[in-house]
Amino acid sequence: MHKLQRKVRFSVNPFLPEDFTGSNSFSSKPSGEGLAVFFELEVGLVGSVDLDTGFVVNVTDIDKCVREYVVPVFSQRVRKHFGRSEHIGFSEIVELLKLTRDELAGKFGQASVMELSLKLNPFRKLSVDCEDWNMIYFSEKFEFAAMHKLWNESFSEQRNLELFGKCANPTGHGHNYVIEVAVKMPTEENSFRIGNFQKIVDDALIQLIDHKNLNADVPEFKQMNPTIENIAVFAWNKLQGKFSDSKLHCVNVWETDRTYCSYYG
Ligand code: NI
Repeated sequence: MHKLQRKVRFSVNPFLPEDFTGSNSFSSKPSGEGLAVFFELEVGLVGSVDLDTGFVVNVTDIDKCVREYVVPVFSQRVRKHFGRSEHIGFSEIVELLKLTRDELAGKFGQASVMELSLKLNPFRKLSVDCEDWNMIYFSEKFEFAAMHKLWNESFSEQRNLELFGKCANPTGHGHNYVIEVAVKMPTEENSFRIGNFQKIVDDALIQLIDHKNLNADVPEFKQMNPTIENIAVFAWNKLQGKFSDSKLHCVNVWETDRTYCSYYG
């Protein structure tokens, strides 16, 4: 079995009678005009590889199906809500994802849609597991800048320098870290507020590590190396149990855009 992920980007302008088709699917297709509502829908499919093509599903078929069957649903809903000046909350977005699942059902032969994820902005997304509609997953990225040094006192200086390389620089060095916090909550949960979530993450985690020397300022890292693996565990421990309307699901930590670590507790 393989899992295939495809992102499809499109825009809806609720104040125009229809959306322009566009010809740049990398950016957005329909293209949007002026200030439009931009969507990025990630479709996760599970299936086996076709021996003739080497594909689980041809990604152009995924794009085609999303644009033919799903974009009109989003377009109609967005126009309806904007027309009535109605808020589009999590329950409406989950409803849209449910319609998306139904529209895509049976469209990809032996492969089936397992996961749908909608970016609400470049740093925030809402995801659903198509097999279990009882839970929704919300995640958002935060940044922090910090100094660290990777070193183990029980190793020789030479061993430390070999093992940790540039990260063993005796006077430390900095990274601009990105941390993504994902929580899960029952689909019918309606007390979740993004602002509350952000405040909890900021108070319980970001304030402790942002613009800090992790080795010197954070007690947990006096004995434990501040690697992304250990920062992910630290973040998990600080955030677990802090959310009243949701449960911590996963923490992802990026040290550079080439390296990240996920921790699920
Ligand atoms: Ni480093």
